[in-house]
Amino acid sequence: MSEEQVITKEPETAGAPKEWEPKIIGFLCNWCTYAGADLAGSSRLKYPANMRVVRVPCSGRVDPQFVLKAFERGFDGVLVSGCHPGDCHYAKGNYYARRRHMLLQKFLEHMGIEPERFHFDWISAAEGQKFAEVVEEFTGQVKKAGPFKGVGK
Ligand code: FES
Repeated sequence: MSEEQVITKEPETAGAPKEWEPKIIGFLCNWCTYAGADLAGSSRLKYPANMRVVRVPCSGRVDPQFVLKAFERGFDGVLVSGCHPGDCHYAKGNYYARRRHMLLQKFLEHMGIEPERFHFDWISAAEGQKFAEVVEEFTGQVKKAGPFKGVGK
């Protein structure tokens, strides 16, 4: 095979259907997780690019309806993350969030939405590495669950 033939050869994957990629939305607290995501980016850590970020002032600001709306609008997974217990800039916002989202998790299951599609976590501004790991793990989990087809489907 001549050198020219090698250069013009189509890649093996050309024409093959693209692998499905999950669409994930992340509601991140401005003070901790958003800064952690920023740190992950500036540290050039690698993690899947499946997540669209919504910056919220506090994880306590995330109304469970935001999560339900996200599924309704076609997202395959939802991540909510904020400051560690005791670090919330609004004192108790993350405690309210934790309680609310524990109930939401049960409600989602009740509605027929797989629990793997929702994740709540604490990630501080100094935990860029943890942010990258959580996003990677959650993306894998949602990928395994497959495309979200709607409630009860
Ligand atoms: S300010 Fe971050 S969770 Fe409340």
